[in-house]
Amino acid sequence: MTDSPFDDVSHFKMPRDIPMLKSKFIFLIIMLPALTREAHAESNSIRGKELYDSRCIACHSIDQNRVGPAHQGVFNRRAGQAPGYNYSEALKNAKLVWSEKTLDAWLKSPEETIPGQAMGYSVSDAQDRADLIAYLKKFSTR
Ligand code: HEC
Repeated sequence: MTDSPFDDVSHFKMPRDIPMLKSKFIFLIIMLPALTREAHAESNSIRGKELYDSRCIACHSIDQNRVGPAHQGVFNRRAGQAPGYNYSEALKNAKLVWSEKTLDAWLKSPEETIPGQAMGYSVSDAQDRADLIAYLKKFSTR
């Protein structure tokens, strides 16, 4: 026996494992954006609830009129119809039914959708809007 490192065979196994690990890592880096894009491709009412509970709850609730109207049954209903809520004239008179399309426009820019309305809040991110709408849809009554 000598002290030469060449006597220890384990030294020669190492380099084979390293490229393997590296290629798996590179695969993950390449695939990651594709995987996350997949996860965001559809609207998600669970994420919508989280957004609702953090961003809308200051003024709204599902079943009670607060600063803003209750959202029970809002999807597929005409604008300005929550019972007992005192809407702006603009919303009361709006001939608009809340659908995915109209809610998306409303959340993106309430004032451009119904000029003279009274909601001082908007949601700039399209995915956030889609998720919020998916959540509101769950409380549709028709
Ligand atoms: C700062 C308070 C405030 C916040 C925050 C807010 N809203 Fe509103 N919202 C209002 C008010 C006030 C109205 C009624 C507007 C009117 O009468 O013109 C309204 C109306 C609405 C309507 C129309 C309801 C109907 O019955 O026609 C929808 C839909 C809506 N809000 C969704 C949302 C969502 C979703 C969020 C969270 C992303 C949100 N709002 C955040 C105040 C708010």
